[in-house]
Amino acid sequence: MKDYSKLIAEEMSAINWQKQPINIYQPIEYILSQGGKRIRPQLCLLAADLFIDDARKALIPAIAFEMLHNFTLIHDDIMDKADLRRGKETVYKKWNTDIAILSGDALFAKAFEQMLKYKGIGNVQLMELLTQTTIEICEGQQLDLDFESRDDVTIEEYINMVRLKTAVMLAGCLKAGAIVGGANAKNQDLLYQFGIEIGLAFQIQDDYLDVYADVATFGKNVGGDIADNKKTYISLKTIELASSQDKQLLKEYHSAQNITKIEKFEAVKAIYDKYNVALSAKELINTYYVKAKSSLSQLEVENSKMSDLLSFADKLMGRKY
Ligand code: IPE
Ligand code: IPE
Ligand code: MG
Ligand code: MG
Ligand code: MG
Repeated sequence: MKDYSKLIAEEMSAINWQKQPINIYQPIEYILSQGGKRIRPQLCLLAADLFIDDARKALIPAIAFEMLHNFTLIHDDIMDKADLRRGKETVYKKWNTDIAILSGDALFAKAFEQMLKYKGIGNVQLMELLTQTTIEICEGQQLDLDFESRDDVTIEEYINMVRLKTAVMLAGCLKAGAIVGGANAKNQDLLYQFGIEIGLAFQIQDDYLDVYADVATFGKNVGGDIADNKKTYISLKTIELASSQDKQLLKEYHSAQNITKIEKFEAVKAIYDKYNVALSAKELINTYYVKAKSSLSQLEVENSKMSDLLSFADKLMGRKY
């Protein structure tokens, strides 16, 4: 299987962040040097691979999207009050919120500067894609925050929120690879659709891990979503299945002031477990994965070329971090 992770790591570490003022650039270097799974640039290169011999042509958009992703993480951790990411202190914890806002803003602009370096055919389309993706992520993140204080969020609303905050970025990366590869509109759209479907599965898995992962492997604190009253597939499915007594209990935990974070986490998780929603989440992940494979199978590309992208998506579905 093709593995672009080393190439991406090299490209990322070649960027010079030794600039002033250091309180803008050090946090950027800090978060980018942690790596992470680098899923988005890999998707971009694997998509380009379907259409051209040298996927390196898609490195510019691949890196641009990885920058945009890391920008969203810096700001997301402020909003989610998250102390740990990739096993390290989050930027706003290590420095402070003001620095995290500004270095995030700078990295956001750097993503666009990076994309502007692409001068080939499709350059305007790539800029439009990056712009549209950013706007949609902001919309999704706002819905994510709005849902914290609502207790009538539907699963349909949740899926729309996840599509925006997470899936459009994976989809955008795949489409960017297709654009660089000179793919026709139909193939671009099918890859985008594939990205949306694996993106939905990816975020549902993330929500699952936020409850059931092991901190050491996950690299993020577990229980953050429960502490923040985030609406996840797991929490919404529980409400759908729960007795009126358990629903009332969940409402009380939602606004409880006099219990510790750990007590709330254990109590809410016990209700999730009572309704076996971890299994429901796994089933929905699989449903989206099946849809994703069907979208991919409609591509006008030789089947043999699809295997790298398929095994990459396969690995993603079972991720532990
Ligand atoms: C984290 O994304 C944000 C979500 C959309 C869940 P990743 O899990 O891809 O984060 P890194 O880059 O590998 O750390
Ligand atoms: C991720 O949602 C969405 C974005 C970062 C845009 P989460 O808030 O669940 O991501 P993690 O769990 O903090 O990585
Ligand atoms: Mg969040
Ligand atoms: Mg978060
Ligand atoms: Mg999460």
